[in-house]
Amino acid sequence: MIKLDNFSSFFVANWKLNGNFKFIDQFISKISLPKDSSKCVVICPTSIYLDYISKNKMGFYLGAQNVSQHKDGAFTGEISADSLDDINVDFCIVGHSERRQFFFEKNEEINHKSENLIKNNIVPIICIGETLEDKKKGITNDILEEQLKKSIPISSNFENSIIAYEPVWAIGTGLTPTNDEINDTHSFIREHNAKFNKFKIIYGGSVKANNVNEITSLLNVDGALIGGASLKSDEFTKIIQD
Ligand code: 13P
Repeated sequence: MIKLDNFSSFFVANWKLNGNFKFIDQFISKISLPKDSSKCVVICPTSIYLDYISKNKMGFYLGAQNVSQHKDGAFTGEISADSLDDINVDFCIVGHSERRQFFFEKNEEINHKSENLIKNNIVPIICIGETLEDKKKGITNDILEEQLKKSIPISSNFENSIIAYEPVWAIGTGLTPTNDEINDTHSFIREHNAKFNKFKIIYGGSVKANNVNEITSLLNVDGALIGGASLKSDEFTKIIQD
């Protein structure tokens, strides 16, 4: 497993359902990785391209976007943590809000997925976040607390897991919480249970080249999970270089 403590920050490109061989070849040839080796850059393509990128990657790490909660067996269409490990995947996003929203993933399932990943020495990037409705009701911290309690397995610790805070209303909207709100929420996650004190906690939701610096330099923010802006090689280069 990657030694998370070797890195000061994490920049995770979540390509979602985008990309093909041509896109990947161009992207890899165009991005320029940071000289600062304490920055960990992770690219998460769709599963079909993981093996190709695994064989062509240079200087960045490889992440999957999802994994089965089952180890093996009669589960048509699923991809196991064992097989991700077989092709040298280093990280895997789990419990992204799009999976929770469109594929009805529950905290318990996310917990099993994370546990399987850890057993295979793959770092789960476990996503939590409130909806706009939750925010309006003033129950953000309750929602996060419940997600943390149920979706993070007992075997998770600061050396083998990452938490990603992604407010659902900030994803793909161009809206972000204020810097104070982001820092306070990360501080809430870190402090509400001693277990999370030393966890790396990254922020996602409308991170771009023009706001990444201010967000990732916040005291309690250890990096960013980037969607739309990670699909443009020039913008992603600016994000990881800044
Ligand atoms: P955007 O950066 O497009 O808002 O997406 C964030 C995200 O969902 C990353 O996982």
